[in-house]
Amino acid sequence: MKYRTEICNLADHVGQEVTLCGWVYNTRFSGKIGFVIVRDGSGLCQCVMEKNEQTAEMFAAAKHLGQESALEVRGTVNREERSVGGFELKVADLKAVHEAVDYPITPKAHGIDFLMKHRHLWFRSRRQHVLLRMRATLIDSIRSYFNDNGYVLIDTPIFSGAAGEGTSTLFGVDYFGEPAYLAQTGQLHVEAACMAHGKVYCFGPTFRAEKSKTRRHLTEFWMVEPEIAFASLNDVIAMAEDFICSIVERVLGKHREDLEFLERDLAPLEAIRKPFVRLTYSEAAEMLRGPEARALLEKDLADKTAAIKELGHKIEEYDENATTARKKWQQEKAAQQAVDARMELAELEEQVENIPHHMELAANFEWGTDLGGSDETIISRLHDRPVFVTHYPSDVKAFYMRVDRDNNKLVENFDMLAPEGFGEIIGGSAREEDYDILLSRIQAHNLPIDSYEWYLDLRRYGSVPHGGFGLGVERTLAWLCGLRHIRETIPYPRMMGKIYP
Ligand code: 4AD
Repeated sequence: MKYRTEICNLADHVGQEVTLCGWVYNTRFSGKIGFVIVRDGSGLCQCVMEKNEQTAEMFAAAKHLGQESALEVRGTVNREERSVGGFELKVADLKAVHEAVDYPITPKAHGIDFLMKHRHLWFRSRRQHVLLRMRATLIDSIRSYFNDNGYVLIDTPIFSGAAGEGTSTLFGVDYFGEPAYLAQTGQLHVEAACMAHGKVYCFGPTFRAEKSKTRRHLTEFWMVEPEIAFASLNDVIAMAEDFICSIVERVLGKHREDLEFLERDLAPLEAIRKPFVRLTYSEAAEMLRGPEARALLEKDLADKTAAIKELGHKIEEYDENATTARKKWQQEKAAQQAVDARMELAELEEQVENIPHHMELAANFEWGTDLGGSDETIISRLHDRPVFVTHYPSDVKAFYMRVDRDNNKLVENFDMLAPEGFGEIIGGSAREEDYDILLSRIQAHNLPIDSYEWYLDLRRYGSVPHGGFGLGVERTLAWLCGLRHIRETIPYPRMMGKIYP
């Protein structure tokens, strides 16, 4: 393996002989020429074989290699603009490492349930490959931001003795006979470390027993939570703004081609710039009830109804091509297009069905209730930049949020809504620093004081104004990649009723 090269490095080896180790992505043979597209995790490369007296045996063997067979190919690298990745390998030798038979995910059409059950293999498909690489970049850019700006990483526990975010979504565990929970947030524990280090963050998996299946909710998701001492609500919002600009810039910088492959419209991401929009909850409520929101949804209804009609025609066309196209690959492509279009159609139909309900919810939005998913979508679609919605009614928010000293019905919190209807990706607040107020909030939420004594200690000894937020990795990635559903943004999505593989 002296000359083993990764496909992403082929540019450095033009004219040289190299060995690639990878898997069969696709093959095409006609007469005396064969094409084996190899993927090695770093890219795709078309390997070209010519049949002659010396290569006849290898040619015949290669012809029988099934999709996802593992192999080693030796050959000479040529620049070839028309080929996937821009290079080709002229094959001198090809050896199978393992022959795969009947790989279940074929270029044929598959629905989402089938693909989810084959998540362990679906990783190898190009789109999934791109998404998980982008996830890795996003996580790296998050860590870099905090590491470069003087925040100390604090790992908070996953076994937790108390609720952080309301008791309705707790996963209980039996902790040697004592009740415990999987962490819904690292925030309370990271606040303690904040009083030691000044600026900290925790980053890990968090768990919520979300009992409804929605496109935005997982039961296990990753959250980064920075926390700053001596900070006001405005300080935290300003940091969130700077942080978002930084990660968008880094992801965009590294993954422009991938985003194009995903057919993500880049213009809205390129437009992400400070300052973002700031609205109070009361202003957002007003907006939901107003004419702009109504007009938006009416237009939506008309546009989506038209799109459904058009999609219906397209599906007929794809179905027709799936049986009558001249080439087999054209039939397979049409079959997949039909499956995708049907999925899109089902989603559109569901959306259209829901629009009247969402209109009603928005028009009758009552001050004092939390913003629902559809309300967030409306607010975020009415702006072309991220929106901070601040100062929610205290009754609908967590116990630790700082009570607004000018209006004690409100808390000093914010949600950040991503644009284009993606909705909330950040939730944060100033924390209540006053011992007596915090104690009364814990009592008002019927939480067991004993479990929070340690947290109250932070208000007994050197309490200071402080605050922070939590950003969900999966929702952020869904926004950046333009995915309506969160399920493809994490390697193994966990949702109600879904735990395999
Ligand atoms: O608004 P949340 O619940 O805030 C907290 O947990 C605070 N303790 C954070 C803090 O101030 N340190 O959640 C924060 C973010 C949401 O905006 C969303 O991006 C994500 O976490 N999130 C979820 N993502 C996927 N599935 C779920 N079920 C999620 N719940 C929250």
